[in-house]
Amino acid sequence: MISLRGKTAIVTGASRGIGLAIAKALAREGVKLALISRSKPPASAKGKFIGCDFADSEKIPDAIAAALKHLGKLDFVINNAGIFLEKSVPEISLAEWDKVLRVNLTAPFLICRETFSHLVKSKGRIVNVISSSAMQGYLHQSAYSTSKHGFLGFARSLALEAKPKGVHIYNLCPGGVETDLIKGSHLGARLKGQPMIQSADIAEMVVFLLRQPENIDVPEILIKRFDPKLK
Ligand SMILES: NC(=O)c1ccc[n+]([C@@H]2O[C@H](COP(=O)([O-])OP(=O)(O)OC[C@H]3O[C@@H](n4cnc5c(N)ncnc54)[C@H](OP(=O)(O)O)[C@@H]3O)[C@@H](O)[C@H]2O)c1
Repeated sequence: MISLRGKTAIVTGASRGIGLAIAKALAREGVKLALISRSKPPASAKGKFIGCDFADSEKIPDAIAAALKHLGKLDFVINNAGIFLEKSVPEISLAEWDKVLRVNLTAPFLICRETFSHLVKSKGRIVNVISSSAMQGYLHQSAYSTSKHGFLGFARSLALEAKPKGVHIYNLCPGGVETDLIKGSHLGARLKGQPMIQSADIAEMVVFLLRQPENIDVPEILIKRFDPKLK
């Protein structure tokens, strides 16, 4: 297993939930961090905060440039920020559709584009926190599911460009994780009281993947809730 001490990473969506847990776990391993989101992460997340709204796609290259300036070199990118939308197709406005695609799909594309040459230099790694919604449709999740299917398709294609250059890409596809993302939604209500995945579980998986030696490829992981009622 590789030590992460002295490595550097960009983590998106580290202000709460899964991203915050990943930031804390990576800091514990000795990784220097640049944390990108709209709101500032709590003081428990050690790293340079760079504010950016991913719905404003044009601002993303500047945020990445600021992160690279702070880190000096780049070993890891954790594409984690995301938003949820639970609406039937006739209810979805163009603005809502566009925002979900910008935050969940266009942002990871731009971040990978802006960081790729730096990751090639370091033989770095990208972890994409996608969703089990990238692998099947769920009721009233058409925009979210489209963005996550797109993200997985993008990441699978990028892997073909990245591999010959020594860059690893890991795609994580979790089911229900207990965070604010689905609070107040029908999905959240359905999952209430059920066994849920915790943010820290995902964070430890990220550490485990980043510590794997170069000869190991783990392209995709489907992480399901352990629930005897689930197929
Ligand atoms: N929770 C689940 O059940 C679950 C399951 C599978 C996959 N996922 C995926 O896991 C990732 C993290 O989700 P989570 O559950 O941790 O959700 P969360 O608790 O709501 O956190 C979302 C993070 O994304 C950031 N974010 C949201 N909108 C943004 C924007 N416009 N610009 C920049 N950053 C933005 C948020 O920061 P600010 O609000 O401060 O900007 C926050 O840090 C998402 O991609 C989600 O789709 C979650």
